[in-house]
Amino acid sequence: MLSDGRPGLRIDALRERLGGLAYGGDYNPEQWPEKTWAEDVALMREAGVNLVTVGVFSWSALEPEPGRYTFDWLDRVLDLLPENGIAVDLATPTAAPPAWMIAAHPEVLPVLEDGSRLTFGARQHYCASSPVYRAGAAALVERLAARYAEHPALALWHVNNEYPGVDGCHCPVSAAHFRRWLADRYGDLDALNDAWGTAFWGQRYGSWDEINPPGPVLGDPNPSQVVDFRRFNGDASLECFTAERDILRRHTPDVPVTTNFMASYKLLDYWKWAAEEDVVALDAYPDARDPIGQVRAALNFDLMRSLRGGRPFVLMESSTGPMNSRRRNSARPPGQLRLRSHQAVARGSDSVMFFQWRASRFGAEKFFSAMVPHAGTDSRVWREVRALGAELRDLAPVAGSRVDADVAMVWDWPSWWALELRGRPSTDVAFHDQALAHYLPLWRANIPVAMVAPGADLSGHRLVVVPNLYAVTDAAAANLTRFVEDGGHLVMSYFSGVVDEHDHIRRPNAFQDLLGVRVEEFNPLQVEETLTLRWSDGPASTAAEWQDLMRAEGAEVLAVFEDGPFGRCPAVTRNAYGRGTATYIGTRLDDARLRALLLDTASAAGVRPVADVPDGVEAVRRGEHLFLLNHTDEAVIVAVPGPCVDLLTGTRHEDALGLDPQGVAVLRGQPL
Ligand code: GLA
Ligand code: GLA
Repeated sequence: MLSDGRPGLRIDALRERLGGLAYGGDYNPEQWPEKTWAEDVALMREAGVNLVTVGVFSWSALEPEPGRYTFDWLDRVLDLLPENGIAVDLATPTAAPPAWMIAAHPEVLPVLEDGSRLTFGARQHYCASSPVYRAGAAALVERLAARYAEHPALALWHVNNEYPGVDGCHCPVSAAHFRRWLADRYGDLDALNDAWGTAFWGQRYGSWDEINPPGPVLGDPNPSQVVDFRRFNGDASLECFTAERDILRRHTPDVPVTTNFMASYKLLDYWKWAAEEDVVALDAYPDARDPIGQVRAALNFDLMRSLRGGRPFVLMESSTGPMNSRRRNSARPPGQLRLRSHQAVARGSDSVMFFQWRASRFGAEKFFSAMVPHAGTDSRVWREVRALGAELRDLAPVAGSRVDADVAMVWDWPSWWALELRGRPSTDVAFHDQALAHYLPLWRANIPVAMVAPGADLSGHRLVVVPNLYAVTDAAAANLTRFVEDGGHLVMSYFSGVVDEHDHIRRPNAFQDLLGVRVEEFNPLQVEETLTLRWSDGPASTAAEWQDLMRAEGAEVLAVFEDGPFGRCPAVTRNAYGRGTATYIGTRLDDARLRALLLDTASAAGVRPVADVPDGVEAVRRGEHLFLLNHTDEAVIVAVPGPCVDLLTGTRHEDALGLDPQGVAVLRGQPL
């Protein structure tokens, strides 16, 4: 948590200044002749843009030679925007160290795991531990902050871009930094040798200097070392972030600071990061043609909202149309841009912003879509962009409000990292896939979900879903156990509670008591193999991927494996524990059965869906507003609980309303 208690105030001030939701995108005027700027600003006004991110990769444009600063162009841009009612999310350009720095100090370039060094020619080519990089970044940020601290355009600080750049630098400077980090964490070498289990394969270290980042090895690397290196990499980048943030804070204590996250991204522990910033910002790039793109998007929005305890987040980047990073980059079908933008707002975003304002004519991303496409303003995309801006103005009353959730899902990065290392019973068990499988039925049923860290305060939730919490600390295991003891309901899937934070086997399993089962063996099923599950309360279903070989020790058996080489044995159990229940799923259920199990448990826990709506319609309550989002290609009729008004159309509805294919309504009324 931030110690000065200001983040709430900083964000409230931003919201007041914008008078509602933020609308805009990355604006890169340095790519264009200055005569384009006036047209940019006129079009921004036409589209209702009120916030743009400026300067993300502009280091070489602001400091073309070491110590020579050229802020004049940025001065002119920053003067132009507020005159036109547009505020600025000013970026520190530290994700793109300039060519002169690399030429003079090639050691700034990061070294990959195979020992090769990156070259200059793209972006994010910096070693987070490099003192040269850090000093250069600090000097520039200091000047930027001093120059624009009082500027009327400045509304938000955007630090760097999409940390962490490379997935762990392996250069000697990083290695030395890693050793210092380990010495801080473990204090003495014996503790490190224990934590890393170096008695295995004779890996004992006799001195700190012998330790290195995990590199190429024959076979499998030491898993404890790998997970610690992942922790260290996150911390090294976080130091870069907090160093810049502290400079910005010193100059502008009232301006909020953020950096853009990449949704459910594996490499950084965003719980730790979110605590260091004023507002969470998200870059979200769903595939336009993914049949469950709206579900993945919803999960990402819920995660971002949850990172700061349910406070609104900022959708910092999204795309108006095709991307350029996939094999085939499809255009967004008509209506999808509108629908998905409203979905972000429904789930807690106080903004809709894009990469980028005007499509670039050159460079690596010239085929990436934009608010002003290459086709110009006589285009479908521009018309949709303009219409969206007008609608978002009508949603001003939504800004700042919260989405509440009775259901929580445990989301833990260190466990994710450890789960997906090699040398496990099955390398096909993947955390995100499991989380999505458990999220999907709740999304379909319009039951809101908040993501929580395993050690978080769970008292505000009725049901906690725990997909594959493979690694868990004693404190987190006690926390989940206490939740059930105190009357909560918990559903946990297989291969949970197996190791501690060092990836050492736990015996007994961390949740054996809570679950009332004793897992003796793991039996991953073969790729096409399925088993039959016999349920005490319903038709048979199929099990895939995994079979826990377990005994019920106090738990009620809800389903048994009926066939397979191990014969009849428990598959799904429920344990009454304290005042609550703990349900355990020792295999991968099919979608229908998982849905039934989750919804029955939710219902027993007193959880109710937001609204009763046709399949494919998403209903989300945010503050006093009910969002209805029709993700189907059919027109539907939705019953509403009483007289209400649609903020988007001003139309009053008494008991039902029609939604077009891809249609949206944002309702406000007494019973809502
Ligand atoms: C080989 C090695 C052992 C052990 C086993 C199982 O036989 O000699 O040390 O690693 O494989 O992987
Ligand atoms: C990320 C980056 C942007 C841009 C977009 C599109 O979100 O932050 O600079 O590259 O992706 O690829």
